[in-house]
Amino acid sequence: MAILKIARMGHPVLQRRADPVEDAAAPEVRAIVRDMIETLDDAGGIGLAAPQVHIPKRIVIFFIPGERQKEGEEECEHPGVELTIMINPKVEPIDEEITLDWEACLSVPDMMGAVPRFSAIRYTWQDLEGAPQTCEADGFHARAVQHECDHLDGILYPMRIEDLSLFGFAEEVNRNKELLARPNPLVEAEGA
Ligand code: NI
Repeated sequence: MAILKIARMGHPVLQRRADPVEDAAAPEVRAIVRDMIETLDDAGGIGLAAPQVHIPKRIVIFFIPGERQKEGEEECEHPGVELTIMINPKVEPIDEEITLDWEACLSVPDMMGAVPRFSAIRYTWQDLEGAPQTCEADGFHARAVQHECDHLDGILYPMRIEDLSLFGFAEEVNRNKELLARPNPLVEAEGA
């Protein structure tokens, strides 16, 4: 087990398309995943893609804390998602609806930005036995999966920001209630 170094925006490993994993059940894949779990736990994030730890392979781990799903929801229909290990994941939107909300990334430390994402997705992957899995997601869950899978295609969330006034240092943005509240009214205006 090892805590791996996290690549930051600007490093070429974050800009290339990661390679497919040929044998999801291989022991070396399991070893990479173990180190990724330890690294994520140490870094304190909710998701990590292998390119972020300098391994250009299509591997993602993530979990959704239950309390995060409750934010902005009258009823919590999603009590959270346990740690999910995805080999060769693929994401497809369920419809064309787009939501704008804030994101952060371990490879873009101290920053946050409001990113348009598909509101609802279906995603498929192989587990560590190589078995195909599929799941549907919306809300923050759908956002997190899209963010992590983007890492496998060399895309960091700042590259998807359409309004750069909604990008800044997390410490400043979190103090700026007016800015924090802006994404959702913007989405409604565009959708009207
Ligand atoms: Ni990220």
